[in-house]
Amino acid sequence: MIEKHYEELIKIINEADYNYHTLDRPTITDQEYDKYLRELFDLEYAHPELARSDSPTQRAGGQVLDQFKKVTHKIPMLSLSNVFNESEIISFDARIKKEGIDPKYVAELKIDGLSVSLQYEKGKLVKAATRGDGVIGEDITNNVKTIKTVPLQLKRDIDIEVRGEIYMSKEVFNSLNELRVQEGLEPFQNPRNAAAGSIRQLDSKIAASRKLECWIYHLPNPEDYGITTHMEALQFMAGLGLRINPNNRLVNNISELLEFIEHHTENRDNLPYEIDGIVIKLNSLPDQKKMGYTAKYPKWATAYKFPAKQVLTRLVDIIFTVGRTGQITPNAVLEPVIVQGSTIRRATLHNEDYVKNKDLRIGDIVSIRKAADVIPEVVEPIKERRTGDEKPFEMIKFCPICHSPLMKKDGQVDYYCFNPNCDRKHIESLIHFASRKAMNIDGMGDRIIEDFYNLNYLHRFADFYKLSDYKKELVELEGFGDKSIDNLMDAIENSKKQSLEKLIFALGIPNVGEKTAKILAMKYETLDNLINADYEELINIPDIGEIIAKSIKDYFSLRFNMEQVESLKELGINMKYIGERVQENDNFYNKTFVITGTLEKYTRDEIEERIELLGGKASSSVSKKTSAVIVGSNPGSKYDKARELGIPIWSEEDFDRLINE
Ligand code: IVH
Repeated sequence: MIEKHYEELIKIINEADYNYHTLDRPTITDQEYDKYLRELFDLEYAHPELARSDSPTQRAGGQVLDQFKKVTHKIPMLSLSNVFNESEIISFDARIKKEGIDPKYVAELKIDGLSVSLQYEKGKLVKAATRGDGVIGEDITNNVKTIKTVPLQLKRDIDIEVRGEIYMSKEVFNSLNELRVQEGLEPFQNPRNAAAGSIRQLDSKIAASRKLECWIYHLPNPEDYGITTHMEALQFMAGLGLRINPNNRLVNNISELLEFIEHHTENRDNLPYEIDGIVIKLNSLPDQKKMGYTAKYPKWATAYKFPAKQVLTRLVDIIFTVGRTGQITPNAVLEPVIVQGSTIRRATLHNEDYVKNKDLRIGDIVSIRKAADVIPEVVEPIKERRTGDEKPFEMIKFCPICHSPLMKKDGQVDYYCFNPNCDRKHIESLIHFASRKAMNIDGMGDRIIEDFYNLNYLHRFADFYKLSDYKKELVELEGFGDKSIDNLMDAIENSKKQSLEKLIFALGIPNVGEKTAKILAMKYETLDNLINADYEELINIPDIGEIIAKSIKDYFSLRFNMEQVESLKELGINMKYIGERVQENDNFYNKTFVITGTLEKYTRDEIEERIELLGGKASSSVSKKTSAVIVGSNPGSKYDKARELGIPIWSEEDFDRLINE
């Protein structure tokens, strides 16, 4: 009797949830709903043996975890490739047509949240997992159960996995941030971060309070249900009670697609949630199969990303920084603004000419955007907003740190501080030496290096390896303890073993970046060999031109630099290349290769590395200078271009055979 009533209550509440949250069509009043839910809570309290794991009471949260369990995705959760403009959309369409497909697409909103995989068994939600690295995610079942737009029970007792996006509405985001500010907490930068932060709460009560939502957009196993188009998959999932975005549309051609994009670009601000683009998916599932996948993305779908948003703010000041080579960079100090989710306070202004060409004045209202979605850029001053109080830009004449006169190098736009004893140059060189891509001294952050420099513990590269002499003093410093100093000492000791390319890069030879350092390390194998290499020999190495060669020779001709190298050597820093050797092979030496399509045996990085080890070079575009194009399955337009130009085409088997010749 009680059991029956219990089941009935669950049914009523589930249905009310579905009508309200998924269909947006309430069928009972809030008071009625609360009454049923209260009753259910009471019943479970009185009869804990009845309580089901998919009961709507779970939506309130309550369980607190120590950590999230790992979940392995049976089918990897892939991400999407991006396109940024019409011509890239047209190329995407052309790649599909080239396979003989007559494409129809489903266009969908690209919800700005985090993806989730939901597993249902016999219609019950049993597991929810984050994407993680695509293969292994985290078990967030408890938190997902609190999301009212995720059904705990489907309309059919079916086993199924579905995927979608968890997000936070703009309204919830704004009120959450208001609350956080009142409580003296740091506000979330954007709804996506807020959603991600909420789903990673170990206490599901907190997750429940965040009022997250979810749209479902992907069925990883459509063939199990006899489904042949993506649109059908969406309808099928809607029929199970899952929440499918009503804006999804089948488009018959590119012009309909562009229309859809234009419409939603204009109307995105009217949506109650944030979107950052439009997802384009091939509708026919057999055609999807034909297109296949790269290691990271499906080739049958792509994401059109909206152009970077421009935002106005004030240019408060222009300040100058000194790099490790002495190069002086003007930087914009901005009144903090949020652009595409992150707060921007600074932006590089590159050099004097850049500032003057844009006619930037201190006090200007300027427009800001994030170039390529990451690096903030000052686009232009809004001249109409000038009041006359703006201060014109003036390039400084003396180093802001050591006050020595600044000069340009021949024919260059940048000013440099040429004082070899400028403190800032030393500090920046030390920061570079310890950085991740150089000697990778873990825990040796910029501030610590600056402090140690000012305390006279650190001046030259070799001083890193003598820091253990000051252990007693360091432990006394604020922010350090025995443990953290021990960790730092271990990291320093470990960095001694880095392979030669890291050391070459760490030295900070002008114009020698990470890639050049690798080429030099592979070619010379020891630092002494590189030091002794003559100019002629250096310029004969592919990819090394006159500027780099001269830079290397100049660097090692300075006594100061040679002394640094000598002391590193004495302290036992590895000076040898650890890694595979170049085995020069006539089929590859000094030749340039382009790879297109999916290879079977190698990833892109692997085959490129092999080519480099054979003395060749990998390039991304086909030209007359390309020696051969290596072609895998589903090759792109590079293959056509190679055929047009009559460039030799190698299969993966050809490649393997020629390696051994
Ligand atoms: S489909 C194999 N559809 O965008 C299909 N993704 O940048 C994979 N996203 O990881 C995804 N809205 O988190 C798809 N309508 C939509 C989407 C969507 C948002 C997210 C998703 C994905 C990311 C790729």
